[in-house]
Amino acid sequence: METKAETAIPYDLKDRFGIVTGAASGIGQAAAVHLARMGAAVALVDLNQAGLEETVALMGRQSDAPTLVFTADATDDGEVQRVVSETADAFGSLDFLINSAGILRRSGFLEMPLEEWDLMIRVNLRGPFLYCRHSVPHMVRQGRGVVVNVASLAGRSSSILGGAHYTSAKHALIGLSRHMARELGPRGVRVNAFCPGATLTPMTVNSTTEEEIEAVAATIPRQRWATPGEQAAVIGFLVSDASINITGACIDSNGGSLMI
Ligand SMILES: NC(=O)c1ccc[n+]([C@@H]2O[C@H](COP(=O)([O-])OP(=O)(O)OC[C@H]3O[C@@H](n4cnc5c(N)ncnc54)[C@H](O)[C@@H]3O)[C@@H](O)[C@H]2O)c1
Repeated sequence: METKAETAIPYDLKDRFGIVTGAASGIGQAAAVHLARMGAAVALVDLNQAGLEETVALMGRQSDAPTLVFTADATDDGEVQRVVSETADAFGSLDFLINSAGILRRSGFLEMPLEEWDLMIRVNLRGPFLYCRHSVPHMVRQGRGVVVNVASLAGRSSSILGGAHYTSAKHALIGLSRHMARELGPRGVRVNAFCPGATLTPMTVNSTTEEEIEAVAATIPRQRWATPGEQAAVIGFLVSDASINITGACIDSNGGSLMI
């Protein structure tokens, strides 16, 4: 039995192929650019075509690895199936899946329309589930794969900016990740939930006043919101073999918010 210290596993993603959802904006866009910089070939998916073009332009400067682009709705089973199978065919391998597509709505519990509850669960839980459902069989066949489900600090506590629907979906996404990790670990597939705290992206900036941004920053031990790039760096680590022993975890990146 080997117990000696060995060299840490190198940290790049050459010859790794995968999918990033929500890749047109914010954390998903930064993750796609970062993964490309680490050498990965990435399929970008989003509803927002103009944002995807921006991501392609940003990635172009980082890597020579091929890029695929899909405009597709993460909640539509047929579209997700098409994206996954075309990606696996084109790349010949499917090594990672980053589920970053998501939406935020702000409603108090007493005022929340039922349609808004359904929409939030549909995009923030059904969407990642569908991508997992269609991607994991490819990973199981290969005997290796990594899933990162972008949950939230709102999956670990309640949500300042969202509502009960957002908090519920993100808690459930962590549960999905944990359960998948248990079932799929023996098949070589790692599944983790990534839980960002307040991060300056179009999702948050477009629904928040400057005063609110400052007020939230004041509650964070680090005293500032994260940038998408700071969150992307953690996603890169979770995709790489440097995190080979991490599965079924919730990886927090929140400036210390969960401690208080
Ligand atoms: N920004 C934060 O403070 C924060 C904190 C915790 C968790 N998160 C989570 O991080 C993820 C990314 O958020 P962000 O802040 O980068 O937001 P963002 O709005 O900048 O990006 C989200 C992307 O998802 C896409 N999208 C939405 N619905 C879709 C659908 N049905 N199909 C395909 N694409 C769809 C949007 O078009 C957008 O490009 C989300 O899951 C969000 O809940 C964000």
